[in-house]
Amino acid sequence: MPRRHPRSVKDAPVAGKRVLVRADLNVPLDDGRVADDTRIRASVPTLDFLLDEGAEEVVVCSHLGRPKGKDPAFSMKPVEARLRELLPGAAIRVLENTRFNPGETKNDPGFARELADDLDLFVNDAFGSAHRAHASTVGVAELLPAYAGLLLERELEELGKLLGEVERPFVLISGGAKVEDKLGVLEKLGGKADHVLVGGKMAEQIRDENPLTFEVDLPTDVVAASEFAEDAESKVVPYDALPEGWLGLDIGPDTRESFARAITRAKTVFWNGPMGVFEWPRFAAGTKAVAEAVAGADAHTVVGGADSIRALTEMGLVDEVDWASTGGGASLELLEGKELPGVEAIPE
Ligand code: 3PG
Ligand code: MG
Repeated sequence: MPRRHPRSVKDAPVAGKRVLVRADLNVPLDDGRVADDTRIRASVPTLDFLLDEGAEEVVVCSHLGRPKGKDPAFSMKPVEARLRELLPGAAIRVLENTRFNPGETKNDPGFARELADDLDLFVNDAFGSAHRAHASTVGVAELLPAYAGLLLERELEELGKLLGEVERPFVLISGGAKVEDKLGVLEKLGGKADHVLVGGKMAEQIRDENPLTFEVDLPTDVVAASEFAEDAESKVVPYDALPEGWLGLDIGPDTRESFARAITRAKTVFWNGPMGVFEWPRFAAGTKAVAEAVAGADAHTVVGGADSIRALTEMGLVDEVDWASTGGGASLELLEGKELPGVEAIPE
């Protein structure tokens, strides 16, 4: 179980109050449209709860992507439109991308005051952003009475189960982008797992120089592409024989099989990050094989991160896993045993 139990929105005096909610509505976009609405749907119960309890005003904020300043490509508009479809007629106000303000990621008190202005309570439901000490996750919690939202609570409970004794073998599967963020975490987490399977961009990055100090299962083969393009020339090559100038965009067939075998034998599984560029059908087989193996495993299965969840959802397999976490980096840091700043900022 997690060491801290932040106080719950269920114990907040909500009636008649103006409430700021930090949700994690950082969803994948495709041509300006929401490509996967899992995180938006996951934010609804807390908003519903606040409205039912008679909050006078509910203001929702989130970051979206990693914009450098104000950038229309990262506008919250499509996200807001989806949220309004899910909460028809609800009196909510959705703020623009918090990262349009440079004070957000610096946890600038001035921006936190701007967010908290005129509001009475703060509810943090953004589990996926709880590892970020930003103005909208930590700064506002120091200005307004802060409570944990329903999703944040449930995430802490479900991921907390992996922190205690787990049934073994415990297989950890790591892929996806944001490699710099994940290497350190993997380094700390690797010792807890019996097998660590590494694919995707993570495996690409450590081909020539592997900083990990414990043993991991790297791919034995990859699907290589002549350029980063959906229709690039491609072929299967050994992991350690990628032709000069080519890119590994998926794990290869042998790796798919050996990873699936390890997952099938597991009793506890945690998967974070796709095995390749699964948005492009020709580089999707690795992620699909892992998704199928995880969904089919006779094990306690937990999956984290927007892209892995998107893959499972697209395959119709998301209900086959025990917990689909809305947190990627946040779930990794929690499993690593770290306190999450966004959680720590809420009183117990
Ligand atoms: C995520 O998608 O992992 C969270 O929304 C946090 O996003 P970030 O890594 O850009 O801070
Ligand atoms: Mg992510």
